[in-house]
Amino acid sequence: MIIGGGEVATRKLTTLLDAGVECRVIAPVLHKELAQLVDDHSLVYESRPFEASDLDQVNLVIAATDDEEVNREIHRLAIEGGVWINAVDDMDHSTAIFPSIVNRDPVTVAISTAGYSPTLARRLRARIETILSSSVGRLAVYMGERRATVKRQLADPTSRRVFWDSVLDGSIPDLVGAGRLDEADEAFEISMRGAQVSERRGLVSLVGAGPGNPDLLTLKALECLQRADVVYYDNLISDEVLDRIRRDARRVYVGKRRGLEGMAQSLINDMLINDAQDGLRVVRLKGGDPLVFGRGGEELEALKSTGIHVEVVPGVTAALGSAAFAGIPLTHRDTAQSVRFITAQLSNENSDIDWAELAREKQTLVVYMGLAELPTLTRKLVEHGMDEAMPIAVISRASYPDQTLVIGILSDIDERVKSEAVTGPTTIILGEVVGMGSVASKDN
Ligand SMILES: C[S@@+](CC[C@H](N)C(=O)[O-])C[C@H]1O[C@@H](n2cnc3c(N)ncnc32)[C@H](O)[C@@H]1O
Repeated sequence: MIIGGGEVATRKLTTLLDAGVECRVIAPVLHKELAQLVDDHSLVYESRPFEASDLDQVNLVIAATDDEEVNREIHRLAIEGGVWINAVDDMDHSTAIFPSIVNRDPVTVAISTAGYSPTLARRLRARIETILSSSVGRLAVYMGERRATVKRQLADPTSRRVFWDSVLDGSIPDLVGAGRLDEADEAFEISMRGAQVSERRGLVSLVGAGPGNPDLLTLKALECLQRADVVYYDNLISDEVLDRIRRDARRVYVGKRRGLEGMAQSLINDMLINDAQDGLRVVRLKGGDPLVFGRGGEELEALKSTGIHVEVVPGVTAALGSAAFAGIPLTHRDTAQSVRFITAQLSNENSDIDWAELAREKQTLVVYMGLAELPTLTRKLVEHGMDEAMPIAVISRASYPDQTLVIGILSDIDERVKSEAVTGPTTIILGEVVGMGSVASKDN
């Protein structure tokens, strides 16, 4: 029931008619466009003011008169009669609101800010419009028509989900979008045969979670998290990244807590392999990039040796996340032609670190896991010829809201870090480029 005959009533009526709702209109006079709508859809229209009995047999009433008192009266009666009410632009007197809609029939996306900001809802809607192809509705119908067949042919729900994901990842959406249905059916048949053969053959994705901020996850990483049946994750994975994991997925923490022994690598490998052999989609989620200082290589080797499907999804490694936050270029035409990522048991006198090589000019050093070893690092580098005035940056919790940056030179960085009470995880960047940090951030 639409009460009101102006522009706002016209807008609401249009939305309701688009959704296939049966509508009636009451208003002393009608806006021209509204009259046209009433005509076009042969709607019931009564040309008179609102009466209490108008709410009989009604599910939803739109109070769109320009008289606030009448709108309040409609609200009172609607509440009394248990009728949903939308009072235009009046959240306090509405029990129903109109979300912004992206309509790709039968796919509908509704965006609601619970009435707080229609402008924000419109913006979000515009963004969703751009990422939802116009053929997504057709795709939904295509998939819907084949659900029963897939259910018959793949007994296991996990296999079905994996199959449907593979359909969406392959050429079928494009073929359906282009109306090439014969080719889509052919691709569908091939996927189905493959799914039946490998119904119980899982996949392990070795996924880089980046330095902590979920915005730095790659799209592929996000996709893996959304599809996972089980996620094995490390210590440095932030809660915000964990929040991106599919809700029904099992989560297994396999990291090392400070000062405690972590789970044996062989045990982690076994768990990954067992789950994959059970046909699950397994994600091994590691901080930064999985193949940088994270024993990802060992896991990869162990998995490959069993013949399980493995994929590696790269992540933003701490060196890059830290440099970006600090605005430090890692290479520079004049001062750093190469960059080294290092980590080492620096204080171990027997380790075979080539200090002279590290102290060489015109390169940038990035040290992972180096905070505790900072005094050794600076002492050894100076002993091997590095200038005491070489700039050095200590970056902690890069990409987190409480990230910190301490800049100094080799001879004073230890003091500075102590006075700032820096906490990990921390990455150290060393070289002439550090001096350019502030300049780079300004230019950005
Ligand atoms: C075991 S390593 C793993 C590195 C990881 N695979 C990568 O690519 O970043 C852990 C070290 O990464 C660095 N790190 C990880 N996250 C960081 C962050 N948000 N800010 C600064 N350093 C970080 C620290 O040096 C930490 O000790």
